Order: sequence, then structure tokens, then C-alpha cells
Amino acid sequence: MTFPLVDAATQDCITAEQAEFFKDNGLLVIRNLIAAPELERLRRETQTLVDRAVAGCEDPDYAYKEHESSGKRVPYRVEYVVDKLPSCRALAGHPFVLRSVERLQGRNFIPTWDSMVFKNAGAGTGIPWHRDSGDGCGASDRERPIFNVDMYLDHSDRTNCVWGIPGSNRWSEARAFDTIARLNDGGFRTEGAVAIEMQPGDALLHNILALHGSAPAQSHLRRVLYFEYRAGETESAHGPHTPEYIPAKQQVLLACLRDRAQAPYARGERPFAYRPDGAFAVGADAHATPASYRYPHQQYWRTPHATGAATA
Ligand code: NI
Repeated sequence: MTFPLVDAATQDCITAEQAEFFKDNGLLVIRNLIAAPELERLRRETQTLVDRAVAGCEDPDYAYKEHESSGKRVPYRVEYVVDKLPSCRALAGHPFVLRSVERLQGRNFIPTWDSMVFKNAGAGTGIPWHRDSGDGCGASDRERPIFNVDMYLDHSDRTNCVWGIPGSNRWSEARAFDTIARLNDGGFRTEGAVAIEMQPGDALLHNILALHGSAPAQSHLRRVLYFEYRAGETESAHGPHTPEYIPAKQQVLLACLRDRAQAPYARGERPFAYRPDGAFAVGADAHATPASYRYPHQQYWRTPHATGAATA
């Protein structure tokens, strides 16, 4: 299985053909998405989150797990990075990302999750095989896939990379369940999967129904920013958030576009224009400064049992 070459240094959006590949396979690698000056700033700012996590920050946005080899409690995830770091607000306005999301989901998309998942140097916990969600949220709609854009700030290699199974986004729940159980049995197995090795500044689009995971690692630091998007139509029909979530996140997206316009490294790029329409059209209030960049998912669940996305 060979990924098409998507090079953000030479194109400003995924092509229609690349979009079709992604709809079929649920995985798409984008090279050179983040240029050096932006990458440098992201690495510098996210290091402060890694340092806080390693120091054992008890803020509920910081998540920890027991490392499979050492038994030590190690950090692996930080939520709401757009609220925490100016560099992540500017990244949330990245025009290649947003044009590609629009191509895949239509003009009424909204940003949903934003987090950083990382494997710390010498202590990277594994993420067992999983889907990020069940298919009850509308994710099986081929024409409006729900996906994450996973942006790499460090390289990943065979010691610590994500593995994925192309096409598993189209599997039944039963087949996904059986395969996940088999591949997680007795450790992290990789039969039938592809290793997705990345360079700093590369990105992976992963459909939330595509099977993915990673083995425990004890190699170098590997940080990945996860931005999830959903079509407004899908979110409106299936949730998991209440209707008020949509305009709130539209307002955040518009603010991030303004933040990006202020970043020196955005000079010379063609900005993304967010123009939702119909029931999702925005008024003047959408362009106001948002009350927050952090809208906690649990405050917007439609039901007490809704669950969030998990990532690798
Ligand atoms: Ni995941």
C-alpha cells in the first residue's frame, strides 16, 4: 500500500484525487505542512507543556498512564492546546489544513477536539489499537468523513511511530472489534498494518474509524498535535455536542484565522476564508472575540454517556 505524495510545499490544498484516496483508505500523509519558523515556535511553546506534564501537573487537562515496561506513571496527552498556546491558535488557522478540511467535509465544518499527544523521551506509553469513536456519530458517511489532522513536531520512526490499517474506516463494527482484540492480544501486534513514519512538520489525516495505535517506546520525544474536525451537518444530526457548541466553535475558528494573520510566518500565504452557509451561516457576532478558546466537551454533551475521541 503506497500513499500518494501530498507535498504542502508545492500545493495549497489536497487534490480531489487525494481526497478520494482518503475517503477510501482513511489515512493520508501530508509532507512539509509546517514550515521551519512556525515549527520552531510550536516546538518551543509545546515544550513548556511537556515540562509541566513531566513535573506531574495535576490540571485535569493533563493525562497520565502507567508505562508498560517501567511501571512508572508517565504523561502522554494534554487537552485544549489552542487555548493554552498562541502558536496553536495560529496553527488552527493554517490555510492548507482548512482548505483540505473544507474539501472533505464541506464549507460548514467546525473544529472539535484539539490536543497534544506525545511520547516523552525514554518513557513513551503505548496506545493500544483502537477506533477513536463508534460509528453512531455519523462517521461512516463517506462523503463527510470525520477525521483528525495529526501534526508532527518531532520525527517518528519504527521505535515510536503510529501504525494504521488502510481501509479499516469502512469495516463493520464487528470486524473492527475482532481485529482490535487480535492485534492487542499479548502486546502490540502489527500484522496487516502499515508503519507511518513522519518528519517534523508532516501531518497525517486519520479518519476516526480507521484502526490505529502505537507500541510502547523508550526512544526520543515525539509530539503530535491533534486537531479534529466535523461537518456542521454531521455534528448537528448526531452530536455528540449540543447545538450551542457549533456557533461557539465557529467563533473560535474565526478568531484563530485572525491570530494567524498576525503571525510573521503567515505573510505571503493565501489565507483561508471561512464561509459557512445555510443553517450554519455566521453573523457579525461570529467575528467578535470569543469568550474562550476552551469549550469543555463535557459541558456540551447531549447525553451523559457521550464519549470523546481518543488518539494515538
Ligand atoms: Ni486515536
